[in-house]
Amino acid sequence: MKIMPSILTADLARIADEIARIPSADAVHIDVMDNHFVPNLTMGLPVVEAVRAVTDKPLDVHLMIEDADRWALDYAAAGAETVTFHIEAAQAPVRLARELRKQGARASMALRPATSIEPYADLLAEFDQVLVMTVEPGFGGQPFIEAMLAKIARVRQLADQLGIELDIQVDGGVSLQTIGRCAEAGANVFVAGVAVFQADDPDEMVRELKGMLSRPAQL
Ligand code: DX5
Ligand code: ZN
Repeated sequence: MKIMPSILTADLARIADEIARIPSADAVHIDVMDNHFVPNLTMGLPVVEAVRAVTDKPLDVHLMIEDADRWALDYAAAGAETVTFHIEAAQAPVRLARELRKQGARASMALRPATSIEPYADLLAEFDQVLVMTVEPGFGGQPFIEAMLAKIARVRQLADQLGIELDIQVDGGVSLQTIGRCAEAGANVFVAGVAVFQADDPDEMVRELKGMLSRPAQL
């Protein structure tokens, strides 16, 4: 069970300070947007390189960009532990996943809310992680889409059938109110933006989110 705060809603003029406020986090989630795949423009390779230089935490890079095949490897080279690309944006997802792994990164596929896992079920063994988006990608602070719980459960079922160890990550609207249901459905990696960085004490929120996961009676 891992909590990965998204710095999208942190104070971007002080990223290093913001990361220093979340010592309990398991990784830092960085949202890369290109204003084509999603209607927003955020951070890119130079920012990931700069963040790599100021923290020892693993970097979990979430690419919301059209030309994933062109760019994903550069993020692995920049020091991302995990590189997530949207399956809708990849021309050759298996080749890309293999190249990422060859470069020492973990390969992760993301699914928009309207994208089913079914056409990609046969590819799961090529990946270390599946990111089930629980909002439409593009912005922090949106409400959690409950209907995605069934997709989380389906991905977990497929991974179990294949007998593979697969991380299932959720991203969007993750909070004290929703994290338990995500875990119950089969997710084990949780991205949280607003919930963490708009809390009075971001690290306490990370610990509270973890606390929700160690209380099975409430799941
Ligand atoms: C949205 C991003 C998320 C976002 C989550 O497209 O991928 O990582 O920061 O933000 P919250 O947790 O505020 O929904
Ligand atoms: Zn994200």
